[in-house]
Amino acid sequence: MNKKTIRIGIVGSGFAAKFHFECIRRVHGTNVEIEGIFDINTKQGSAYARKRGIQFYKTLEELLDKVDVIHVCTPPVVHESIAIAALERDKFTIVEKPLTGYFGDGSKDFNGDTFAKQTALDNALASIERMLAAEEKSQARILYAENWVYAPSIQKEREIIEKTGAQILWMHGEEAHSGSHAATYGFWKFSGGGSAIGKGCHPLTAALYLKRVEGLARNGKPIQPKAVSCRTHALTRLKSFKDEGHLRADYHDIEDFSIMHIVFDDGTIADIFASEIVLGGVHNWLEVAANNHRTICNINPSTAMQTYNPVDKNFKDIYVVEKIGTKQGWSAPSPDEDWFTGYPQEFEAFYRSVAYGEPVESDSRLAADCISTIYSAYVSAEKAGAEVPIKTF
Ligand SMILES: NC(=O)c1ccc[n+]([C@@H]2O[C@H](COP(=O)([O-])OP(=O)(O)OC[C@H]3O[C@@H](n4cnc5c(N)ncnc54)[C@H](O)[C@@H]3O)[C@@H](O)[C@H]2O)c1
Repeated sequence: MNKKTIRIGIVGSGFAAKFHFECIRRVHGTNVEIEGIFDINTKQGSAYARKRGIQFYKTLEELLDKVDVIHVCTPPVVHESIAIAALERDKFTIVEKPLTGYFGDGSKDFNGDTFAKQTALDNALASIERMLAAEEKSQARILYAENWVYAPSIQKEREIIEKTGAQILWMHGEEAHSGSHAATYGFWKFSGGGSAIGKGCHPLTAALYLKRVEGLARNGKPIQPKAVSCRTHALTRLKSFKDEGHLRADYHDIEDFSIMHIVFDDGTIADIFASEIVLGGVHNWLEVAANNHRTICNINPSTAMQTYNPVDKNFKDIYVVEKIGTKQGWSAPSPDEDWFTGYPQEFEAFYRSVAYGEPVESDSRLAADCISTIYSAYVSAEKAGAEVPIKTF
């Protein structure tokens, strides 16, 4: 089979840009050529390019002119503008999570703790509409980089739901760890919110995806979220918080804990936890309670491997698993963390879609429903958990 060659550009040169680069190189269904990278931080961007033998571009436009696909690995505040610039040039746009959001009114004294959250919901919905309109007009598509959709455990659960005609009654899931590394995360004006959007988007999108799969399998129609109740808390900003140095504790105006209770249009439910206060490595899982089976999807940690190391320094050159605090004692090293997380499968699917027109599971509508649910959740949290309806796409 003659493989098509796809030319790629990366925007951003931070944490996400690094694993994108590694996982693009694992794509095998098409030939991929990484043309170059653009970052507003010229020094960091040039170093990233040099290290990987690719070209650094001084402007986004110059890079866009050279490629078929762009990877948006920037803070969420600029996802919309970069994606629209790419779609207007008919370039496929792989957008990191969260798709978009509300990042304040630009005023100096904007504070995520105090502004009216209905403003965030209205503006996030308007941003989604602009992105969907740009996609509609474009020859290209938005490919939403939600790796949970492609994580092998979630895809196995998709197979179980499709082949057994299962009805999911309740899901509960979580993404949590000891705090995000990105300096901009912590300020609503860059991140668009805290744990609910930064972390909750992962298990939430997986839950929305599985209900979509269930609806399509049984009735040819997706089941979508209908209403949400939410509580958020800023635990590491409490006056009573005793900081022992294990958790990141410099958040400016975002929550570090959230719980969303979602009711779907068939009356079934999901509970999604997200937080920055969990020690012991990344805690990413989704449990499905269905009418004919029960599944626990362990994304991280997975117990594919368990190791006991009596001396921390013996493992100094060994990567064990993301955000583990110590390598001493028992740990669950991930033999291939990217694979368990779904990154290579995600890019394989996206590039097959770009090259051969195959449908994508993680598309702009799924991303839009996720953002709509989260900002409706922020409105609910402001009302101490009152139920808020969700607009779906
Ligand atoms: N799917 C996942 O598991 C996962 C993991 C981490 C981060 N992310 C997502 O990836 C995105 C980036 O996060 P990160 O952790 O890499 O952040 P980061 O701060 O490490 O890197 C962001 C990079 O974007 C650059 N940048 C900022 N504005 C820009 C602009 N207008 N044009 C070009 N470059 C610009 C910055 O200079 C920086 O190099 C976020 O949306 C985040 O939520 C996803």
